[in-house]
Amino acid sequence: MDFIKDAIRTIPDYPKPGIMFRDVTTMLKDARAFRAAIDAMVQPWAGAKIDKVAGIEARGFILGGAVAHQLSVGFTPVRKKGKLPGRTLEESYELEYGTDAVEIHADAIAETERVLLVDDLIATGGTADAAIKLLRRAGADVVGATFVIDLPDLGGSKRIEALGVPCASLVSFE
Ligand code: PRP
Ligand code: HPA
Repeated sequence: MDFIKDAIRTIPDYPKPGIMFRDVTTMLKDARAFRAAIDAMVQPWAGAKIDKVAGIEARGFILGGAVAHQLSVGFTPVRKKGKLPGRTLEESYELEYGTDAVEIHADAIAETERVLLVDDLIATGGTADAAIKLLRRAGADVVGATFVIDLPDLGGSKRIEALGVPCASLVSFE
């Protein structure tokens, strides 16, 4: 995975001073790294039956669309509040200051469908936690969550595993 990690750019002090922003756009523009990342994100679920991929806005759409194509299953966008046109389910989550919310279409998932959650990065796990709650409210069995990047110091993957959802990631940054 070294070449995948090397393809991820770090931008210091974005979006605010002190944050080291892990930017996957440099990995996405590298055909070999992008292809290898999608293969590796799918691999832990090779034996599992997956009915649908759910991707979290915004970079989870790019990765999740490719993962869904690879698995030959459909895709469900988990969007920031107010972007989806149909009837939605909504979950709020904590930000450092205040709260935000994510939504899915109420009819996005059929009862008992087995869903794989995809995003570029897990930090505190607040966004993935809200996405899992939404998918479960829609009737999904969330069989796993797969990320390119884990920031283990922020505890997100442990938080998601505590919800009973196994997590996989390709690289981590301290
Ligand atoms: C980033 C990232 C994850 C989330 C992880 O998205 O792509 O979705 O934060 O953080 P957490 O584990 O602490 O919840 P961001 O909120 O920057 O939204 P964007 O993709 O719309 O820019
Ligand atoms: N990159 C992308 N999204 C993020 C990051 C990051 O470094 N930290 C928290 N969300």
